[in-house]
Amino acid sequence: MHLLPYPLALSCLLLLLAPEGLAVPQPAPSIPRSIPLLRRRPVHNGTEWLKSQKDLLEIKYGTRTGQQKRASGFNLLTNQGADSSFYGSIAVGTPAISFDVILDTGSSDLWLAASDGLSTSTDGIPTFDSNTSSTFTSLNTAFSISYGSGAARGTLGQDVVQMAGFEVRSQTFAVVNQISSNLLTAPVSGLMGLGFSTIASSGATPFWEALANSDGTLDEPLMAFQLTRFVDDAQAQQLEPGGTFNLGSTNSSLFTGSIDYQSIPSGQEGYWIQELTGLSVNGNTVSLTSGSASYAAIDTGTTLVGGPTSAISALYAQIPGSQALTGENAGYYTYPCSTTVNVTMRFGSSSVAWPVSNADFALMKISSSTCVGGFFALDTSGTSAPPWIVGDTFLKNVYSVFRANPAAVGFATLSSTATAMNGKNGAAPSPTVGSAAATVSGTTAGTGSGTTRSSSTNAAGNLRGGFAAAGAWAVVAVSGLVGASGFLL
Ligand SMILES: *[C@@H]1O[C@H](CO)[C@@H](O)[C@H](O)[C@H]1NC(C)=O
Ligand SMILES: *[C@@H]1O[C@H](CO)[C@@H](O)[C@H](O)[C@H]1NC(C)=O
Ligand SMILES: *[C@@H]1O[C@H](CO)[C@@H](O)[C@H](O)[C@H]1NC(C)=O
Ligand SMILES: *[C@@H]1O[C@H](CO)[C@@H](O)[C@H](O)[C@H]1NC(C)=O
Repeated sequence: MHLLPYPLALSCLLLLLAPEGLAVPQPAPSIPRSIPLLRRRPVHNGTEWLKSQKDLLEIKYGTRTGQQKRASGFNLLTNQGADSSFYGSIAVGTPAISFDVILDTGSSDLWLAASDGLSTSTDGIPTFDSNTSSTFTSLNTAFSISYGSGAARGTLGQDVVQMAGFEVRSQTFAVVNQISSNLLTAPVSGLMGLGFSTIASSGATPFWEALANSDGTLDEPLMAFQLTRFVDDAQAQQLEPGGTFNLGSTNSSLFTGSIDYQSIPSGQEGYWIQELTGLSVNGNTVSLTSGSASYAAIDTGTTLVGGPTSAISALYAQIPGSQALTGENAGYYTYPCSTTVNVTMRFGSSSVAWPVSNADFALMKISSSTCVGGFFALDTSGTSAPPWIVGDTFLKNVYSVFRANPAAVGFATLSSTATAMNGKNGAAPSPTVGSAAATVSGTTAGTGSGTTRSSSTNAAGNLRGGFAAAGAWAVVAVSGLVGASGFLL
């Protein structure tokens, strides 16, 4: 099934952009539900399954087990909706069941759609039924979270969670029974936050951080992403190979040269913050305010790049013929598709200006000659989010490394092995999460039972859109589109 042509995507843009400007368009609407997506998740038979997976994983997924105490592992990603989102697989409970989750460095909570109370099952979204896991414990604590593009609510619990060959025995996560209609697209069942616990709405230690905090578990206290590009591929399917998530080490075949690490500004560990210190368009510099006014969250869970109105306006001022969209689409800009745009971004004290390819900048065509750019104006004031949200439009151009200690984000040049995966159509990887190569015994929720942990100041019942008052930032572009299939198809 191929993507629909661009004129249809235009109606998508016009129909769906919320006044907040956050329901970002994707280049094509979701594919109808009748299309077979991924193989359905098998119901695995506990330890039998784990054992059988182990051999496979050691070969196919690079999990290192055996004598070594320390370890690293990886998870093959799926690219959903022509770069709208990137997800991987986890396994939860006993017996372990696999779920696809958005991997989001812009938030810090893990949640899964619940089997009861949601209409998501009718959308083909696999759901978690805590009754079927013998190791699940409910914490009887309400949970809610707001993202740039929606919100989710439910109850906290703990269970065994596995990913990339690692296991956390008592991982706190939310089983969610209310979700904004546009937050998930099948087969994705939830979201795994990969930020620091300081911005976790649940107060719980995120999966990755529990492993990083557990001495001697990870080879190195870091995670890394290589993300594929399909936005410029007219043949792209709804699900394509998405690249690689590494946990505990980097994979040197995916990048060349050294990793340019830049520290997270002191005390800012929450989001993966970097100061944006350089921005250029076709060789012209866009001036930036220094300090926290140019802080950026490096966010795999956001599709595009959002920045302050003044900087985005100055950026497009360097592209002749560009025009700000208005009304519902305010924040976005059009420009002549005949212009090849070369934006570069520099972070911290780095001397490297990382280019964003024209293929990523040219988000979508709204006529034969008019394009919409992948950088948009965003006002995060009044929220805990920094002024810039640097999502996949940028991250597809680098190998990105998120290092806990010393806290830093690193970028490196993608290898030809990595870039060869761009636009290379193929089956989405099957949901495989790994055997338990290393385990830690648990994470703590921040509160006792009965308390509500919430990052949202939205009034009760308001689960639509809006900025998070605190907490998380994720999945911006996935959203509008999920809802879109209902309108367009
Ligand atoms: C799991 O597999 C084992 C061995 O094949 C079998 O004896 C057991 O009955 C299975 N358990 C379930 C719940 O299917
Ligand atoms: C590293 O990446 C290469 C290329 O995708 C892959 O073949 C290899 O298995 C990966 N190894 C590890 C340890 O991640
Ligand atoms: C789980 O069990 C509880 C108590 O029996 C029940 O209220 C709930 O509906 C069950 N959940 C599902 C998904 O069946
Ligand atoms: C983009 O601009 C940078 C800085 O001006 C330059 O080094 C780089 O070669 C340019 N890339 C392309 C593809 O033109």
